[in-house]
Parts: sequence; C-alpha cells; structure tokens
Amino acid sequence: MKPLRKAIFPVAGLGTRFLPATKTIPKEMLPIVDRPLIHYAVEEAIEAGCDTLIFVTGRNKRAVEDYFDRHPELERELEEKGKLQELEIVRNIIPAHVRCVYVRQPQPLGLGHAVGCAAHLIDEDEPFAVILPDDLIDGAGVGCLRQMLVVHQAKGAAVLALEHALLADVSRYGVVAVRDEEERPLKITGIVEKPLPQDAPSRWTVVGRYILTSDVMRELSRMTPGSGGEIQLTDAIAAVLKDVPTYGLAFSGKRFDCGAKRGFLEANLHYGFQQE
Ligand code: G1P
Repeated sequence: MKPLRKAIFPVAGLGTRFLPATKTIPKEMLPIVDRPLIHYAVEEAIEAGCDTLIFVTGRNKRAVEDYFDRHPELERELEEKGKLQELEIVRNIIPAHVRCVYVRQPQPLGLGHAVGCAAHLIDEDEPFAVILPDDLIDGAGVGCLRQMLVVHQAKGAAVLALEHALLADVSRYGVVAVRDEEERPLKITGIVEKPLPQDAPSRWTVVGRYILTSDVMRELSRMTPGSGGEIQLTDAIAAVLKDVPTYGLAFSGKRFDCGAKRGFLEANLHYGFQQE
C-alpha cells in the first residue's frame, strides 16, 4: 500500500451551536487559547507525516484559507518592529514541504458527502486520513493520528480511533461491532451510525479520526442518504468492511468535543493551563 500522505478536513459545517459568533467566524477558526481549532488538527496530520492537507470548505470559510496562506503585510510589519518571535509564529504555521488544497462542498449533504468531494484527489490504492477538527485530542506526547499510523502500518489496514462510551451516549456516534473485546487493536466487524442504545453493537464509539482506503471513496460516490437523511461516512466504511480489514484503536490521550460549548471551554482550560 502507498504511504499515508493526504489528510481531509471537512470544514464546511455552519457551526450553528456557536451562533452568533459563527455568523461571521467559521467555527474551525474559534480559538483554543491562541490558536484556532483547525490549527490543532493540521498539526496532528503533519506530525503523522501528511504533506497534503485537503480542506473541504463551504460558504463563509475564506478565513480558513487565509489562515494557512502567508501574510506579507503582517510579516513585514513584525519584521520592521523587531517582533521576531511573533514573526516566526505566523511564518511557521505550515512547513514549506506541506501544501494545502481546497475543495468546495456545494451543498451540506452530510459528512460522507463532504469527504467524497475530495475523491478526485485520492489515487487508487492510496490511504487517506480524515480528521474532524471538532474532536480535539491531546495525545500527550504522540498525536492520535500518529498512534493510528503505527497500527495502519503494522496491519496494512484501515484504522478508526475509538473511545469506550457510556451506553446512554452511544447514539451520538458511529458505533462499532468488534471480534473480541479483549483484543488490541480491536478488529472491527461492523459499524452503524448513531444507533439507539438498545441497538448498539458495543459501547466502542468512533472519534473523529480515520485512516481509510480508496475503496471508501468509490463507495461514497454511490451512497444514498442514511441516518439523519445525510450521506454518512459510517455507511461507506460499513459497505467495504468485508473487503478491507479495519481496526479500532483505543488511543492514548484526552479528547475534547469542541463541537459543544462545554467541551470547547474544557479544551481552553486544559491547553491554557498547560501554557502557565
Ligand atoms: C460524526 C460521525 C460519527 C462519529 C462522530 C465523531 O458525527 O458521523 O460516526 O462518531 O463524527 O465525532 P457528527 O458529530 O458529525 O454528528
């Protein structure tokens, strides 16, 4: 299999839970201490060796594109004022060997649809990562995607990041069926999107990190709407499970659900206190 080089960041969502702030600021640009949420996701992908970052954007997401571009006026001003530390910070957001690619999701038809909008950028037999920036993970030394890469390379398989949830919470997530609860990494034998607690195949829930194969892209192109009337990434993963060995990693680290106000605040406190 080819090496993992590409990461897809679906960032087209409206961020309605953070209105009115998100009326003009994309939710991915809301800061956790001094860096926007999307910056953490991008850093995690680069740490795992990705050199092509694919952002699936929508309306009102110009700020995301501007953030990852150079800003010559600001750089000149910082240089003239001798603010060299700040200059380094704004210059080094993206290392020179990494390129950013932007594709639009013309309509909000679901996560699977968003990922599928990048299908033309993924080659046959090429693995790719999907990172949902709302799920911010402090891997405590080794980023979550890098931890997943180790499993991907060892098994030559697709890998999903998993957390063990309370039964009452499973209906907020994709939930997997596993071959053996004691096995590590967990071999995934089934996956369903947002099941009712009584229908959940386990309490292992999918967190917003995936290493997938191009088979999923092929499947997404013919997918029909599923849970919530949306085209689901989970359904495409389910459709290729019989052909693509897929493992789940109970990653080390702490996840913050920054799609919710409480998780966003907790992440700010967590990273803020780390800086003290
Ligand atoms: C998405 C996925 C879901 C996954 C979750 C992780 O759901 O569809 O399978 O468990 O992200 O955050 P969403 O949060 O977009 O509803």
